[in-house]
Amino acid sequence: MNDALRHIVQQMPKAELHIHIEGSLEPELIFALAQRNQIALAYESVDALRDAYAFSDLQSFLDVYYAGASVLCTEQDFYDMTQAYLLRAQADHVRHVEIFFDPQTHTARGVPFEVVIHGIDRALQDARRAYGISGGLILCFLRHLSEADAFATLEQALPHRDKFIGVGLDSSERDHPPEKFARVFAQCRKLGLHLVAHAGEEGPPAYIATALDVLQVERMDHGVRCLEDPALTARLAREQVPLTVCPLSNVKLRVVQRMADHNLPALLEAGLMVTLNSDDPAYFGGYLNDNFLAAFEALPLTLGDAHRLARNSFAAAFLDEPLRQSWLAQVDAFFAAQASGTPC
Ligand code: ADE
Ligand code: ZN
Repeated sequence: MNDALRHIVQQMPKAELHIHIEGSLEPELIFALAQRNQIALAYESVDALRDAYAFSDLQSFLDVYYAGASVLCTEQDFYDMTQAYLLRAQADHVRHVEIFFDPQTHTARGVPFEVVIHGIDRALQDARRAYGISGGLILCFLRHLSEADAFATLEQALPHRDKFIGVGLDSSERDHPPEKFARVFAQCRKLGLHLVAHAGEEGPPAYIATALDVLQVERMDHGVRCLEDPALTARLAREQVPLTVCPLSNVKLRVVQRMADHNLPALLEAGLMVTLNSDDPAYFGGYLNDNFLAAFEALPLTLGDAHRLARNSFAAAFLDEPLRQSWLAQVDAFFAAQASGTPC
């Protein structure tokens, strides 16, 4: 990648639509919070913890990720974690962010739902004022837990309905098909919530199809295995279902062996509505711009692809239409200014 393209990819306005806030907990903050809350960690030092970040698959990561999240206890802890992420996001020229959070990871330890959501929401409101970043929260149900547990979580969430815009589905994909949560998602749909789900990360393309048909999701998180099914790929392209692709995550969790093997160019070539995202940046080696740079370094991607990915990030966001159009115009103006040599 040449310097000019690197500069453009870093500076272009963008939205992030797939970030687990618990996955932004850096080892230093894990240690600081463990000390603050007098929680014993299984690792002796920040370096020892970081050394454990060698994953063989999704489950090997989730085990470490849930252990890391166990240091989050107070509203201030959730605030500090979210504020740290938003500072990194704004440095990467992220203008809009839709943040996943996993309440069951915390309520199962006795942390009240409102402690979790108040801390994350307060940081988001402060970042809106401080940096002009807009955002929303997406409550994710853990798919390795039961439907009853998801319903109980929804019940706890409803008094805070004004603080989240949608629901998602994450955690161990294998053997936990989307249809396990058909009734929960139907209820969320009735409540007017946006719907997304992880599917086709490790799980088969059939899970992408059932996330669409049974859960009726509006966006697919990952979805990279869709290319194994040409009819499904054609449908995703025809319906312009957004796929929130996370390149560094896919390498770290061995969905692909090397970045050079990533199917991102093929997804774009198939006409899919792809966005780039960081997933769990503290665990996978980088934030949003790191993902863009790693992908653009290793893959045959062009200036036109950068423009398309920036546009897609706003096109796929849960934004009001006038605001979406305003962001798309700002993306286009940014690229026009680059083409004419006028710095934006
Ligand atoms: N939770 C956090 N990161 C995840 C991922 N990449 N897939 C499924 N669940 C997750
Ligand atoms: Zn994810």
